[in-house]
Amino acid sequence: MTRTATARGDVRLRGVTRTYGTGEAALTALDDVDLDLAPGELTVVLGPSGSGKTTLLNVIGGIESADSGCVRVAGQELTAHPPRELVGFRRERIGFVFQFFNLVPTLTARENVEVMIELTGRGDRRRVPELLDAVGLGDRADHFPAQLSGGQQQRVSLARSLSTDPDLLLADEPTGALDQTTGKAVLTLLQETNRQGRGVLMVTHNASIAAIAHRVVTMRDGRVHSVERNAAPAEAHSVGW
Ligand SMILES: Nc1ncnc2c1ncn2[C@@H]1O[C@H](COP(=O)(O)OP(=O)(O)O)[C@@H](O)[C@H]1O
Ligand SMILES: [Mg+2]
Repeated sequence: MTRTATARGDVRLRGVTRTYGTGEAALTALDDVDLDLAPGELTVVLGPSGSGKTTLLNVIGGIESADSGCVRVAGQELTAHPPRELVGFRRERIGFVFQFFNLVPTLTARENVEVMIELTGRGDRRRVPELLDAVGLGDRADHFPAQLSGGQQQRVSLARSLSTDPDLLLADEPTGALDQTTGKAVLTLLQETNRQGRGVLMVTHNASIAAIAHRVVTMRDGRVHSVERNAAPAEAHSVGW
């Protein structure tokens, strides 16, 4: 496997717990989670609905804080910082890709990417055409989200998250709303992104996708149930489901 750039985006969790609500209604979304992801790894997180996958991503991305335990991401200690203090960290280090793309409907593809660059003060507006080209949307830059297919919207969202050159890309069910062909195109781009040296942590319902990962983490009831290393990750275009 080729890793052209320096590998980055390592993750280390120790004893991480996150509970929602209090008293009898308390629900432990993350229960004493330990997890180590090496720099430059592509990790797939599997697990049933409600097992804590999204919470895990949000804690790693600094959107939610852990109640206890230690979280270190890309060399930065997140523990003891509430999410509002982690704005800079998120902007500089983390890219997010969501199941339903979260594009601004009144902005074109190009503007959706530009707005991220303006918001974060990172990245270069002149590179936006290049970013859209890289996700195969060079000729759709002036289309609005409603004029794009689901797969195209997800690729805009990917271009947007890459515009700030994050160390770690967090993707929550990025292919969940896509048909297989478009889903595979998005997976291929995520794998390419990873091969440029970034960490990629992807949640999916789809066990077939695990074949492309260096590491497969299975969650159950807020706990890490298993972690498996995959010595020979498959090419994204070759997986089927
Ligand atoms: N904001 C919230 N308030 C209350 N409970 C929540 C909240 N977010 C998640 N939960 C609960 O925490 C558990 C884990 O949720 P989540 O991390 O979204 O799981 P998954 O992504 O694996 O479906 C679920 O039982 C869910 O209902
Ligand atoms: Mg979820």
